[in-house]
This record gives sequence, C-alpha cells and structure tokens, in this order.
Amino acid sequence: MDFFLDTADLNEIKELSDLKIISGITTNPSLMSKLGIKGKQNWNNHYKKICSLIDGPVSAEVISTSYDEIIDEGLELSKLNKNIVVKVPMINDGIKAISFFSKNKIKTNCTLVFSPIQALIAAKAGATYVSPFIGRLDDIGENGLDLIESIRIIFDNYNMTTKILGASIRSNTHIEHCAEIGADVITAPYQTLKKITYHKLTDSGLKKFLDDYNKTMV
Ligand code: E4P
Repeated sequence: MDFFLDTADLNEIKELSDLKIISGITTNPSLMSKLGIKGKQNWNNHYKKICSLIDGPVSAEVISTSYDEIIDEGLELSKLNKNIVVKVPMINDGIKAISFFSKNKIKTNCTLVFSPIQALIAAKAGATYVSPFIGRLDDIGENGLDLIESIRIIFDNYNMTTKILGASIRSNTHIEHCAEIGADVITAPYQTLKKITYHKLTDSGLKKFLDDYNKTMV
C-alpha cells in the first residue's frame, strides 16, 4: 500500500518526502485555498513547486463542473508536469471527462466517492484512482471502511486495475484497516503521517538500549 500526503503545504511535503514516508500528494481546492494563493496562474505555479519536491503522483483538482470546461482545465493541469493526476469530481460530466482523459493517457483521480457503485462507474470510465472518503462517512454515522471493503470486492470481481485511494483519513486505525482490506493507497494529513512510525515501546526500548550501551563506556 502506498502512502500519499493530503496537503498543499510545501514544508510538509518536503519533510515527509525526504523521510521517504510518502510517494505522492493529493490536494483539493480547500487545502489550496488555505495557503492564501490568489489567481489561477499562481495556483498552477504552486502545483509545479509541489511536483519539484516529490517524484510521484500529484493530484490537482479541477474546479469546473461541466464536461467541456473540465476537459480544458484538466488538459491545462496535465501539461504542468508529467506527474500531475487530474482530480475530477464524481458527477456525470466528471465521468464523461474521465473517459476522455483515459483515452488520451491522462491519469485521473475520481474524488468525492461515497458509494461502491460510484467507484464502479468511475473505474469503468477508466479512472486511474478512485477516492472513497472514509472520515466523512464516519462523520455522518456510517462506516467508511465498509465502503473500502465493498469497492475492493467489486474491483477484484472484475479484475479492475483502478486503484483504491483511501481518503479523508482520520486516524492510524483507518490506515491499518485500509491495509488489511487491501486499499492500494491511502492519503492522510501531515499530523497523522508525521507520527505514523511512533510507538511508545519503540522509544522506551531504544532508550534502554542506549542507556545500557553508555554504561559500558568508561
Ligand atoms: C482526498 O483526496 C481529499 O483531499 C481528502 O482526503 C479529504 O479529507 P477531509 O475529509 O479530511 O477533508
């Protein structure tokens, strides 16, 4: 299972990319707008900067919701860098656009997926990734991990190559269950991934080893 970082913050990307914890990035319009970058040209420049920090897939989301505009925007984004994955919302015009991009060898990430059938439709259209949002389903009292499990069964039934990208991750437990179920990728926020290697017994065990070593140094 691959680990992607869900952020547009360059410092966070540099830190976790240097540590080799992550191999890709997902962004969304909310994460981009948090940075206070104004204007389309500056957003595009920012995507280029992200691509310069990591040699792996970088999802950049279209803002358009009609087919022709999604195509124009997606083509423009895809030209920014070879690693750009065009993120397209799970709407009818989005599915049609994913089919176009797939035929033109442009990678896509179908976002805002909340049901197994949405994932199946996106995969049939040729999406490279589908992004089921686990945490947001949990937030409304459903079980987001059940969705990952259903999509895994469906994709395996039909030998679909579209990758399941577990998104809207809220905890390590989500990540562990995604790995058990067989998600291909998860994307999680910086605060979650920064602590992913931590275990209190690792820290106390290391302290003991170093203390014992130091006792032998006279
Ligand atoms: C995924 O691509 C999304 O950017 C993200 O995981 C959404 O997460 P949230 O529900 O925490 O906003």
